Amino acid sequence: MKDRLSLMAALSESMLTVNLLLSVFSLPGTFADCGSIKPVVRITTPKKIEALSGSCLEILCIYDTKDTRYNSNRTIYGVWIKGGHKILPIDGDVFNSSGLNNSYSLNIIGNLKEKNCTTLFPDLNTSYTDKYRFRIENWPFRATACDDPLDIEVKDSPWSPSINISVGDLKEHQSVTISCSALTPCPHSPPELTWNLQQDSEGRTEKNTDGTLTTKIQETITLSDTHDGYKIICFARYPAKGGSKTEETKFTLSVAYAPKDTSASISPSGLVSAGSWVELSCSSRAKPPASFTWFWNSKHGAFNVSVGQVYSFNDTEGGEYYCEATNDLGTQRSSVIFLSVKDVPVIGLHIILKILGTVMLCSTLVIFECCFRFSNKSKKKQKTQPISTVMETKP
Ligand SMILES: *[C@@H]1O[C@H](CO)[C@@H](O)[C@H](O)[C@H]1NC(C)=O
Ligand SMILES: *[C@@H]1O[C@H](CO)[C@@H](O)[C@H](O)[C@H]1NC(C)=O
Ligand SMILES: *[C@@H]1O[C@H](CO)[C@@H](O)[C@H](O)[C@H]1NC(C)=O
Ligand SMILES: *[C@@H]1O[C@H](CO)[C@@H](O)[C@H](O)[C@H]1NC(C)=O
Ligand SMILES: *[C@@H]1O[C@H](CO)[C@@H](O)[C@H](O)[C@H]1NC(C)=O
Ligand SMILES: *[C@@H]1O[C@H](CO)[C@@H](O)[C@H](O)[C@H]1NC(C)=O
Ligand SMILES: *[C@@H]1O[C@H](CO)[C@@H](O)[C@H](O)[C@H]1NC(C)=O
Ligand SMILES: *[C@@H]1O[C@H](CO)[C@@H](O)[C@H](O)[C@H]1NC(C)=O
Repeated sequence: MKDRLSLMAALSESMLTVNLLLSVFSLPGTFADCGSIKPVVRITTPKKIEALSGSCLEILCIYDTKDTRYNSNRTIYGVWIKGGHKILPIDGDVFNSSGLNNSYSLNIIGNLKEKNCTTLFPDLNTSYTDKYRFRIENWPFRATACDDPLDIEVKDSPWSPSINISVGDLKEHQSVTISCSALTPCPHSPPELTWNLQQDSEGRTEKNTDGTLTTKIQETITLSDTHDGYKIICFARYPAKGGSKTEETKFTLSVAYAPKDTSASISPSGLVSAGSWVELSCSSRAKPPASFTWFWNSKHGAFNVSVGQVYSFNDTEGGEYYCEATNDLGTQRSSVIFLSVKDVPVIGLHIILKILGTVMLCSTLVIFECCFRFSNKSKKKQKTQPISTVMETKP
């Protein structure tokens, strides 16, 4: 039975070799895959992983095999093969969890008996950039996860963090969660994140769906018009051998808001003479920009008299005018402009005072006239001098 099993194992490997030879010929220089043979070992890791030189790299890894020859009661060696184009004989650099032939420093920290092949590279440099294959040796069962090559790229400079906002279109009064996250190949010395928003907590390292890790800080804020145009800057400082390395990302908030500070102005200012040219102008702060409507207040209510920022007309009547600024998010009304026209009294207190003045003037004149006539009559009776003479001698 045992002999048969090992024969099967040998057979499966030789079949692989045949297939791999074919694929090697067709794709010279690329990494060998399993060809048409279904690989008996599969691993789950990120397909491609980036790392920083002078720092570490932890690769979360699990392997699986349905092969009946696999027995976790026997010794299991995990092997990473760096580079190479052939599965048998192995032509890449070998790291063996037995501790032998470890030309590159790495460490399988997962428990192989639990099918955990999690691996730590404690200190990388750019010469680690390569494709790696995982191989399980559980004598007599041996198989390489040829369909799951792991692509490692070691870079000298780190990655810019990324700023994310929970919603796409930002509007005032909206509560949004803003986060800054940075790739974290080495969870043992994660990047330190700082930004120019309030910072309540330390960064937390999380696992992404693709198996890579990111460190993240976040803040929930309620947006207002003052956030529009605000530039968020987030820094990621990666600890590394020979000095930490920092990258930054900027993101400018664009927040839509209803019209604010709506005001109306008039030109020329002050009293205008009837029939002269008047220009009313409306202004407002709004995003997106507001459109304007002009209203004239009459005793029958407000009339929509014009649309557009500027309303110019020949003023004959005077009156009260105001404008409204409107965009998708709301409407705001300006204060009222009182337009009074010379000689044509129209407005409130002004009119009353004018009328009152006129009435008083008239009545004074009438009274004076009456008094004058009365005194004239009595003076005629007394035969005194004409009033004009009296007035001349007075000063
Ligand atoms: C491994 O060993 C345990 C206890 O010795 C035994 O119960 C189990 O069946 C063995 N597993 C295999 C796959 O041989
Ligand atoms: C890994 O080490 C074990 C134990 O020394 C050895 O039997 C096996 O052949 C090695 N594998 C490779 C690919 O070097
Ligand atoms: C170590 O690698 C060398 C060359 O790759 C090989 O000749 C030797 O057999 C390997 N030793 C073990 C224990 O795998
Ligand atoms: C594998 O081992 C690593 C290191 O011990 C651990 O962090 C991880 O959670 C393990 N994965 C699983 C699926 O158990
Ligand atoms: C990269 O690391 C390897 C193994 O640790 C070492 O042999 C090599 O000299 C290093 N290369 C550089 C450029 O530091
Ligand atoms: C950030 O946003 C991008 C696209 O907007 C999305 O693909 C990504 O998953 C987000 N990342 C996080 C950490 O939320
Ligand atoms: C406005 O009134 C002035 C003078 O009363 C006149 O000359 C001008 O043509 C008028 N303009 C319009 C557009 O009615
Ligand atoms: C004002 O009148 C214009 C033209 O008649 C019209 O297009 C606009 O919708 C009106 N605006 C309002 C706020 O009533």
